[in-house]
Amino acid sequence: MSKNKKTKYATLSLPDGKNYKLPILSGTIGPDVIEIKNLYNDTDKFTYDPGYTSTGSCKSKITYIDGEKGILLHRGYKIDELAENCDFLEVAYLLLNGELPNKKEKSQFDKKITTHTMVNEQLSLFFRGFRRDAHAMAVMCGVVGALSAFYHDSTDITDNKQRLIASRRLIAKMPTIAAMAYKFSIGQPFIYPKNKFSYSENFLNMMFSVPAEDYDVDPVLTKAMDKILILHADHEQNASTSTVRLAGSSGANPFACIAAGIASLWGPAHGGANEAVIHMLSDIKNINNVRKYIIKAKDTNDPFRLMGFGHRVYKNYDPRAKVMKKTADEVLRTLGKENEPMFKLARELEKIALEDDYFVEKKLYPNVDFYSGIILQAMGFPPNLFTVLFAVARTVGWVAQWNEMIEDPEQKIGRPRQLYDGAKERKFLPIDKR
Ligand code: SDX
Repeated sequence: MSKNKKTKYATLSLPDGKNYKLPILSGTIGPDVIEIKNLYNDTDKFTYDPGYTSTGSCKSKITYIDGEKGILLHRGYKIDELAENCDFLEVAYLLLNGELPNKKEKSQFDKKITTHTMVNEQLSLFFRGFRRDAHAMAVMCGVVGALSAFYHDSTDITDNKQRLIASRRLIAKMPTIAAMAYKFSIGQPFIYPKNKFSYSENFLNMMFSVPAEDYDVDPVLTKAMDKILILHADHEQNASTSTVRLAGSSGANPFACIAAGIASLWGPAHGGANEAVIHMLSDIKNINNVRKYIIKAKDTNDPFRLMGFGHRVYKNYDPRAKVMKKTADEVLRTLGKENEPMFKLARELEKIALEDDYFVEKKLYPNVDFYSGIILQAMGFPPNLFTVLFAVARTVGWVAQWNEMIEDPEQKIGRPRQLYDGAKERKFLPIDKR
């Protein structure tokens, strides 16, 4: 990890007249940071930043986001260029290793991932314990968390070889487990992975083929799947990635950390928004109701939020949403659904919102979740699989960030503090005296 130069300082002046010099660190691009790790030792004071709106939790080389300009780089490469020119495992290699692979490296990596796509056969029995109508994300939390009960030989995070195998297993097995969760919910037999397929072809085949007949994976849908997975692969220190890093900082095994990430991603304010967008568009029904919902979204007394809009970091159009919107056009046209009412409604909703002062002032734009559900639904994914797909893709980012955290010499167990405003110490009263 390159040592950041400490040549600039911020000065903190406290009411008692004491001044403290706080080092300012610079990265390669993006905002400087004020290093406060010794603040409590020096001043007996914590900082306070609910939701970490101004707090950097780590150094990272993986992803850079410029929220004002709507820029997203993975290891320096623009997300739209990666989505247009790579397949998902090529971007996975980049996120994990820091460089795009050459042909030989790509073919070796594909093979290493492909040979881990099957799951222990006992795991298929695990699904029997769930209700058929269980939400697919609930199944994913349970099954992925259980992987540490099957792969004991890759849970020791201090062993680089075990970490590498666990990383490959997680990336390889997520599509298999996701497809099993879907097949279980519709009462169809599990479809095994086939090594002749690419990552996305394998996923689509396991999702939509049945033993009773041949299934040809449509190359247009495979390309669309690669793009969708790439667009969801990593996104700096978002809620679920921070969850994985925090879980991993205690030394928890990688399968448990990724299961924690899946749980966090499920929230409707985070990865669960793609499913929420579809439900919102179904509630809006038609263009005549759009304004009513825009008014609801602007009403601070109404908990309704325009799902798929707004972002903690992007105060401009999410670059992923731009690619997603273009992909939606392509997929719907391929499937002969270009007049899909929900897509027309979404475009109208976006147009009206982007012309509304409230959304303009608060810099609320469509995010990655606004159009993804429309594509996935058109491809045959049910809404409760949308966030599962997000989790399949984000596993690459979680694994890359988890490895970076473990290799970070500054890494220690995450343990935030608080501003306590509860009761002062008081005398205990036995129950008959209360
Ligand atoms: C993802 O962090 C990541 O990188 C996440 C992600 C990733 O790849 O990992 O990008 C994936 O989670 C995308 C976001 C998906 N979530 C949604 O689409 C749900 C709807 N969006 C909102 O819930 C909200 O925008 C959040 C949760 C995404 C962001 O919340 P913040 O940080 O509180 O938003 P903000 O501070 O920028 O909000 C500014 C104002 C607030 O009003 P005031 O308190 O100033 O009066 O805008 C309001 C918010 O209430 N606002 C919205 C809104 N989003 C924010 N008002 C109406 N509709 C919305 N969608």
